Amino acid sequence: MKNEKKGFARAHTNIALIKYWGKANNELILPANDSISLTLDKFYSDTYVTFSDDLTENSFFLNQIPMPKKSMKRINHLIDFTKRQYNYSGFAKIQSYNHVPTSAGLASSASGMAALAGAVVSALDSTADLTNISRIARLGSGSASRSIFGGVVHWHRGHDHESSFAEQIVSEKEIDLNMITVVVDRHQKKVKSTHGMAQTVATSPFYSTWVDEANRAIPEMITAVQNNDFTKIGELAEHSAAMMHATTLSANPAFTYFAPETIKAVRLVHQMRSTGIECYFTIDAGPNVKVLCRTQDITRVHNFLAHEFNEQQLVVARPGSGIKFTKN
Ligand code: PMV
Repeated sequence: MKNEKKGFARAHTNIALIKYWGKANNELILPANDSISLTLDKFYSDTYVTFSDDLTENSFFLNQIPMPKKSMKRINHLIDFTKRQYNYSGFAKIQSYNHVPTSAGLASSASGMAALAGAVVSALDSTADLTNISRIARLGSGSASRSIFGGVVHWHRGHDHESSFAEQIVSEKEIDLNMITVVVDRHQKKVKSTHGMAQTVATSPFYSTWVDEANRAIPEMITAVQNNDFTKIGELAEHSAAMMHATTLSANPAFTYFAPETIKAVRLVHQMRSTGIECYFTIDAGPNVKVLCRTQDITRVHNFLAHEFNEQQLVVARPGSGIKFTKN
């Protein structure tokens, strides 16, 4: 009889308020700076893992489509590392499903790799140690380390595998912070975050300043989050995003993730603020803009954005929960 071990996990995606941008160690994915994010309710990945003595290699199906072998490097790295940790030698069949509104155009590596780490650990061992799952998720994608927890989350950069993990600052119930994604472009980003980071670290004369400023903002953001101080959270988040994107423009060769419509959305945020609707923007390694607002302002912000963007381009998300090992 074949010997099988099965696991499941659901993890939600997250968007950084203080961005992670640049690695100190490529193999272990240790970041140069600490980061802080909000886990979102809307977008999540469900991942099923079956380990079996019968299999001869790992396979990964995303929304039922097999992943080409050449794209499996990080996935295999994560699985191999975990197998060594739990002293197991079989291979895995993985089925992952992304639940992201089809129009959202959001990267799903954070939720996908977090759910993979959770499912692999749940197949091989107990899931009690979430810190360990956060470390393992980091090996798949840096930002995935934060998707293990709900609410607002701090990823400690650390200096080795043990010391680089995420932890919750406040739960999803304790924070009044929402994100409206303005979907400017649904297509895959042109410069992947790994390449964008590497180019910036290697060539931007502003890079060391970015690291210092990002780390300096961390205690300020933690205090703002603990006080539910939306104004401070928004100001720090917007500044962090603007500084991150300044490093790409100062890289050599220079590049940018902005599209013309990105600037249009940023201008709308400025306009809203000048008319008394308090909101802020953040932007990741792609052209889409996320607008931060309080719950009381969701409708006003949404309606303002709807003057320039259509319904399908606007996706409202609220704070989301941490990883789960059952479907409900
Ligand atoms: O985890 P990665 O490799 O997808 O990198 C994420 C980079 C940003 O989204 C731009 C910032 C962040 O902290 O999530």
